[in-house]
Amino acid sequence: MKNRSLVSIDDFSSEEITEVLDMAADFEKKPVRKLLEGKVIATLFFEPSTRTRLSFESAINRLGGKVVGFSDVSSSSVTKGETLHDTIRMVCSYSDLIVMRHPIEGSARYASEIASVPVVNAGDGANQHPTQTMLDLYSIRKTQGKLENLNIFMVGDLKYGRTVHSLMMAMSRWNATFNFISPEELRMPEEFKLYLDNLGLKYYEHTDFTDIISRADIIYMTRVQKERFSDPIEYEKVKNVYVLKNSMLANTKPNMRILHPLPRVNEINTDVDANPKAYYFEQALNGVFTRQAILCTLLGINIRED
Ligand code: CP
Repeated sequence: MKNRSLVSIDDFSSEEITEVLDMAADFEKKPVRKLLEGKVIATLFFEPSTRTRLSFESAINRLGGKVVGFSDVSSSSVTKGETLHDTIRMVCSYSDLIVMRHPIEGSARYASEIASVPVVNAGDGANQHPTQTMLDLYSIRKTQGKLENLNIFMVGDLKYGRTVHSLMMAMSRWNATFNFISPEELRMPEEFKLYLDNLGLKYYEHTDFTDIISRADIIYMTRVQKERFSDPIEYEKVKNVYVLKNSMLANTKPNMRILHPLPRVNEINTDVDANPKAYYFEQALNGVFTRQAILCTLLGINIRED
C-alpha cells in the first residue's frame, strides 16, 4: 500500500480497514517502537485542532519519527499569498508523508493529486475526517466486540459534522442501522442519504431521541459546528438543541457507549462523564494507536518485522 493517500474512508477496503484496526490493537499493547526512525512527517493545520494534531504527533514521536509543520496558518507563507499547490509541492521535498487539515472541502483530494508523498486528510471542511473514523471504528469494535449489525445514533450537527459523514460511510459496510437525530436545519445531507439508499441500508430521521434511546448500541454526539455557519443568528437558534444528561441514560442498553469526536461545548453534560457508558476520552486516546497504524500502513512499514 506504499504511497497511497487516505483522503476518504472509501479509499480503504473493508479488509484494509480491519487490518488497520488489528494493527492499532498491536500498538495499544506496545506503542513505543522505532518504526519511523529516519522518517519526517509534515503536519499542516490550516484549521485549529487539539486531538488530531497532537495524537498524530504523539504517534510519530512514539515511533521514533520527526515532525515538521505548522499549527497556525498565520505563521506560514500562505499569508503572503502562496497557493495550496505550491505549499504542497514544497512540503513534499521536506517530508515522507503529509497530514493536512484544511477548511475547504476537496482540498485533501487536490493535495493528494499534487503530492509525491502520501497525504492524510485530517479534515477537509464539512466533508470528511477519515482518521477520526478509524479511531471511531476501533472504539466501536473494542466496546461492542464487533462492527456488524449495530444500531448507531448520530446526534447533533449532521450537516456540517464531517466525522459523522465519514463514520456513516464506514459503518455502512457492516450493515448498521442508522438513526439520525438533528434539527431540521442540520439534517444529514442528501448525498449521504443517497449513499445509504444505493446500498439498500435503513436509516431513520428524528428531531428528538428521548423515546428511542433504549435501542441504541452507540450514541455518537456531535458539536454544532459554529465555524461553518455564515449567519451567527442561525447558529444561536440551534447551538443548544441537544444536551445529553446522565438522567437520560437510565434505560439504555448495558453495553451502550457514548462517543463524541470532541471538542464538546455543552452537548454532553459533565454529569455524564463519570457514567461507565461515557467513552469519549478513551476514544480520543485510541486516536494515537490508530494513527500509528495508519502511518505505518501508508508508508509500507511492516510492523510484524519489529
Ligand atoms: N476530533 C477532532 O478532530 O478534534 P480536533 O479538532 O481537536 O482535532
